Amino acid sequence: MLFKQLLIQKSYSDRIRSHKRNLKRNVTGSAFCFALMLLVFSTITVLSTQSVYAQQDTTAQTTTDETAATTDGADAAAGASPEVIAQGKELFDGNCAQCHAVHKKVVGPALNGAEGRWGSRAATINFIKYPERTINSGNAYAKKLYDEYQQYMPNHDFFKDEQVAAILDYISTVPVPTAAVAATGGDTGGGGQEGGTANSGLLLGIVIALIAILLVVALVLVVLTSVLSNYLKREKLEEDENTVVTQSIFDFKAFFTSPGFIGVVLFVLVAVGAKELFAGLWTIGVQQGYAPTQPIKFSHKLHAGLYEIDCKFCHSGVEKGKSAVIPSANVCMNCHGELRRGSPEIQKIYNAIEKNEPIQWVRVHNLPDLSYFNHSQHVKVGGIECQTCHGEIQEMEVVQQVSLLTMGWCINCHRQWDVNAKGNDYYDNLIKLHESTSKEPLKVEDIGGLECSKCHY
Ligand code: HEC
Ligand code: HEC
Ligand code: HEC
Ligand code: HEC
Ligand code: HEC
Ligand code: HEC
Repeated sequence: MLFKQLLIQKSYSDRIRSHKRNLKRNVTGSAFCFALMLLVFSTITVLSTQSVYAQQDTTAQTTTDETAATTDGADAAAGASPEVIAQGKELFDGNCAQCHAVHKKVVGPALNGAEGRWGSRAATINFIKYPERTINSGNAYAKKLYDEYQQYMPNHDFFKDEQVAAILDYISTVPVPTAAVAATGGDTGGGGQEGGTANSGLLLGIVIALIAILLVVALVLVVLTSVLSNYLKREKLEEDENTVVTQSIFDFKAFFTSPGFIGVVLFVLVAVGAKELFAGLWTIGVQQGYAPTQPIKFSHKLHAGLYEIDCKFCHSGVEKGKSAVIPSANVCMNCHGELRRGSPEIQKIYNAIEKNEPIQWVRVHNLPDLSYFNHSQHVKVGGIECQTCHGEIQEMEVVQQVSLLTMGWCINCHRQWDVNAKGNDYYDNLIKLHESTSKEPLKVEDIGGLECSKCHY
């Protein structure tokens, strides 16, 4: 055998001693440490990639585990026109996609086949508009859902029934994704995200391969050490050498106190901590659904909906600067100097003006001070409708925060939204440049919309 010859050839004592010690202490110890480290690192990578994509995977439905096709839903949608479905998709993306995907559980359940589970379209619409009320009404299925998810989905009472129906029509047309769709980028326009999921599949493969290699290496090491010690046991050795050889193959005490092992443990703690922190930041201070009672019963449904008063008439800041501005009592007086003077609610406006105190409106939307958001950049330059971010305000009696307003929410849109380049020479050049390198339209991401300093002071 190779080892035997090798060992005989060398002058015995020195060589073997160093050989054995190396093998036992260093090789085994550090190989195990290295192996552990690789394993832990790759598992964490996969876990965090998957959780990040799970959060973002709102429009792209890429699971393949659901084979039950939505044929019943497809029938229901057979009558719906493409315009209705397009409207449904827009409403879904704007209001539901933070929490739902069609074929995949996100914050809330996968929505395919929901109508079947509720029994009828009317019951489904009613639940979507008033989830809390439905759950508390004693409906057994609603109760079961609540027990599983432990939260109330926010009310969607600002939607008309037809709008919710359009969302349901859209949902029933979303095809069950197949592996091929995930691999090629799909047709939902969320190419980047689907690529991400495919990526994490690849990562998983790499990790499995790594683990296999590590197992083989460990096995070879164990065999090597035992062959070597068996051989040496049969040789005549000096006393101190004998103790080294007959020691157990793996010295646990030395292993657990070795700097390598302590390093790995510290590394794991730091990595897990960082991941938790990251996940926490993603959802920090979420106040979706917040709808405080205001000091005056001011109704957007009446003013902006029924009387169609332009948002900008009252929120005069939206095109000029950072803040949209809440109108002062004087703005109300433009109309209420005459209109419904006797009403007790209107009386409150007079009181405020007489005492020269502002009306104490309770703020609904509120980003922390460390972040910077500018209305004119989004409304005027970006050409984005108020409703994209604030929901159907003109249907609300009481203003409610519809969007998440988290950093993930801002960034998700910046990844997906095409820059509005109409009549803007500056963008014409940028777009030409961009088109020479990419087939995708120019996104906010491409003009620096993901840079920390753009949103943080
Ligand atoms: C803030 C997260 C959130 C948003 C936004 C949201 N949902 Fe939900 N949804 C949930 C949760 C959580 C549940 C589970 C039921 C519960 O606990 O209230 C749910 C349940 C449902 C169900 C019942 C599913 C089933 O399997 O029976 C439907 C249907 C539904 N949502 C539709 C919608 C639609 C349509 C929208 C957009 C207009 C929407 N949801 C927006 C969180 C949300
Ligand atoms: C007649 C004046 C008026 C019009 C028109 C109006 N608003 Fe308002 N808006 C107010 C007042 C007053 C408040 C503060 C009280 C409240 O929150 O209801 C407010 C609050 C808001 C808030 C919440 C602000 C916060 O505290 O975070 C949003 C968002 C909003 N309006 C959007 C709109 C949109 C979008 C439109 C057009 C569809 C619109 N408003 C039309 C007067 C108006
Ligand atoms: C462009 C005109 C206009 C402006 C500006 C306006 N309103 Fe009105 N408001 C109306 C009209 C129209 C009605 C409905 C009157 C009716 O039902 O007879 C109304 C009704 C109301 C009512 C219900 C009164 C009641 O008791 O039925 C309240 C409260 C109210 N407005 C508050 C406000 C406040 C607060 C502001 C300022 C932020 C404001 N309005 C600005 C036109 C206006
Ligand atoms: C791209 C998303 C987006 C669009 C589009 C948008 N808003 Fe906002 N709006 C926000 C955010 C985010 C806040 C919270 C800002 C903060 O706290 O600094 C906000 C806050 C507000 C407020 C509270 C007062 C203030 O300025 O902070 C009002 C009122 C308002 N928006 C009205 C409007 C109106 C009216 C439009 C349409 C002309 C509109 N918004 C369009 C995201 C948007
Ligand atoms: C509905 C989509 C949407 C959402 C949500 C959104 N943005 Fe934007 N944002 C845009 C668009 C579109 C532009 C590009 C405007 C332009 O052409 O300059 C933009 C531009 C910006 C810019 C300037 C970037 C640059 O490179 O000049 C900042 C800063 C910004 N957004 C901050 C925010 C913050 C903070 C939030 C979340 C509170 C947010 N945005 C949410 C669509 C969005
Ligand atoms: C498109 C805008 C945008 C970009 C780009 C952005 N952020 Fe944020 N960030 C926000 C908003 C908005 C919040 C507040 C979210 C909330 O309150 O839920 C936030 C919150 C945070 C917080 C949490 C602070 C706290 O309240 O504890 C940290 C930390 C942070 N961002 C770091 C970063 C870093 C680092 C980058 C660059 C890689 C970055 N952000 C890029 C918009 C942005």
